Amino acid sequence: MHDLHEIDHARRLLGSARRILILTGAGVSAESGVPTFRGPDGLWKTHRPEELATPEAFRADPRLVWEWYGFRRERVGACRPNAAHVAIARLTLGNEDARLVTQNVDGLHELALEEAVLEEAGSEGMSPGGSVSRAAPIRLHGSLFRTRCTRCDDRTSDRHPVDANSEASLPRCRKCGALLRPDVVWFGEQLDPEILQSAMGAAETAEVCLVVGTSGLVHPAASLPLLTRGSGGVVVEVNTEPTPLTEVAVSSIRGRAGQVLPSLLAVDRNHVVD
Ligand code: APR
Repeated sequence: MHDLHEIDHARRLLGSARRILILTGAGVSAESGVPTFRGPDGLWKTHRPEELATPEAFRADPRLVWEWYGFRRERVGACRPNAAHVAIARLTLGNEDARLVTQNVDGLHELALEEAVLEEAGSEGMSPGGSVSRAAPIRLHGSLFRTRCTRCDDRTSDRHPVDANSEASLPRCRKCGALLRPDVVWFGEQLDPEILQSAMGAAETAEVCLVVGTSGLVHPAASLPLLTRGSGGVVVEVNTEPTPLTEVAVSSIRGRAGQVLPSLLAVDRNHVVD
C-alpha cells in the first residue's frame, strides 16, 4: 500500500507546476508484461549485456544479437499500454508545457498516445493537431521497432518478425543492401546529440521532474533529474524500490506506476497558478 500523504504531497507539487518533465524507465512498462533489466526477474540477470547490447557484440555475432532483438520485438509487440502510459499520454496531450522523456524502446508510450488522440478526437469531433508531436516521447535509447543501416545510416520503421536463422536471412537495407541493425543505443555508444539536447533543455526548465520506474543507474538519463534540481526545480519519484535518485527527490512514492500514476496525474488544471 502506498503512502497517501506522499501521493497528496506529490499531487500538489504537480498541480502547481506548469513545466513538468516525466522521465520513464523499464518499470513503467512492467505491468504491461515487459521485463525490466535489473530487478530479480530482470533481463540482465539471465543475459549478458556485453554479448547482446554492444557494438562489439553485433560485429562479433550479428545473428545472435538480432535473435535477441527479434525475440524482444515479438514479446513487446504483444503487450498493451497500462494505466501509467495512459495517464502520462493524457497529461502530455492536455498540458502544452509537459514533456515526456523515456529510456524505453518498447513503443508503449507512443501507442498510449495514439489511443488517447483517437479518444480525444472521437469525444470532441476534432483533431488535436500539433499537440500530438509535442506530446510524443523524446526517446533517449531508440526503438525496438526501427532499424538503422550499418553502411548508409538509413533509418526506418520496422515491425516485421526477424528471421535470425542464419546471417544470410538477417534484415538488409532497402537502399544499399548492407546489414541493418536495431536502431537502439547500445552500451558504449553515444546518445543522439540533438535528442539529448532536447531532453536536457526540458530538464533544465522543468519545475517538477517526475521520475517513474527507472533504477537511475544509466547515464546520461539518470542525470536529467539532477539538472532539474540544479535549476531550482524539484524531483518526484515513483518506484517500487528505493534508487540512487530517491535521495534527490522531495517526494518519493513506493508503488507500482500503473496504480500510482492515474491518481497522481489526475491534476485539476484549473488550480494551476499562473
Ligand atoms: N512501477 C514502478 N517502478 C517499477 C515497477 C513498477 N510496476 N516495476 C519495477 N520498477 C522499478 C524497479 O524497482 C527499478 O528501479 O523500475 C526500475 C527498472 O530499472 P531497470 O530495469 O534498470 O530499467 P531502466 O532504469 O529503464 O534501465 C535503464 O538500462 O539496460 C539499459 O538501455 C537499457 O534503457 C535501459 C537502461
